[in-house]
Amino acid sequence: MIVVTGATGNVGRTLVPLLAGAGEEVVAVSRRPHSGELPDGVRYARADVGDSATMRPVLEGAHALFILLGGELNSRGESPDALLEGAVDAGVKRVVLLSSQINSTRPDAVSHARLRKYEAAVRAAGVESVILRPGNFASNAFAWAESVRTQRAVFAPFGEVALPVVDPADIAEVAAAALREDGHAGHTYELTGPEAISPRQQAAVISEALGEDVTFVELTREDAHAHMARFMPEEVVGGTLDILGAPLPAEQAVSPDVERVLHRPARPFGEWVARNLPAFR
Ligand SMILES: NC(=O)c1ccc[n+]([C@@H]2O[C@H](COP(=O)([O-])OP(=O)(O)OC[C@H]3O[C@@H](n4cnc5c(N)ncnc54)[C@H](OP(=O)(O)O)[C@@H]3O)[C@@H](O)[C@H]2O)c1
Repeated sequence: MIVVTGATGNVGRTLVPLLAGAGEEVVAVSRRPHSGELPDGVRYARADVGDSATMRPVLEGAHALFILLGGELNSRGESPDALLEGAVDAGVKRVVLLSSQINSTRPDAVSHARLRKYEAAVRAAGVESVILRPGNFASNAFAWAESVRTQRAVFAPFGEVALPVVDPADIAEVAAAALREDGHAGHTYELTGPEAISPRQQAAVISEALGEDVTFVELTREDAHAHMARFMPEEVVGGTLDILGAPLPAEQAVSPDVERVLHRPARPFGEWVARNLPAFR
């Protein structure tokens, strides 16, 4: 049995059916009840990853655990050791943690200190462990969906700064491989898309997919900060804007790891747009 946290998010909602489709018994975890139908072989459990007492019963009988720290868990909450102890007590032998590329490129970033604690705890737990460090998600473009729908406009900072945004579906596929296959233990995978693409170019891809003009409006860093702070912990906003505005060469480079694990190239941004076009119509 595999327990998947963050089950209803960008990564989890692909990972859960992937695992179930491969014949795994899956427990899908989030705090709010799952809406919609679950695939065969999937059970839903309501629990809080940041509250190990709620996770212990969910982990009973699991051999593998996918940890995703949603929202405020990226900056605060109980010690990661409590969750890992509960997992080991329950019989978990393999843990895959969704972390962030920033822990490779900016290992002292205050914004991601808590994720580094989780990485250390997972490595020290005495289980087979795999750390996934994705760069910027393609799904961050959901933040533009409303303005594209209502004004045919994308409002974003740093219009010309290109990053190799990664499709959450690729992250989910790598996670599924790491959860199911032998040979990944101890690895840290940096996950990016196949090419660097700027916000202005992303707007053009959305425009082309819609078959309609979409205007790009460049925001100042201050305006972008105020907007992002509505749905991200304050500490994480600063670190994220540092990458978006002044990425290091390593953050603009394409990592070979998606292809290394999946034996095919990473999906381009256009594929993510095509799958999610209804959100922008
Ligand atoms: N976006 C990026 O560019 C980027 C880059 C690198 C790394 N990351 C990392 O990727 C992760 C976000 O992945 P995502 O986009 O798939 O997430 P998402 O779409 O924001 O979804 C978060 C998921 O986690 C669940 N969740 C949130 N808090 C929870 C809690 N305390 N207990 C149990 N479940 C909880 C949510 O459901 P409920 O709210 O119902 O619980 C939902 O299922 C974060 O850890 C972030 O640091 C993101």
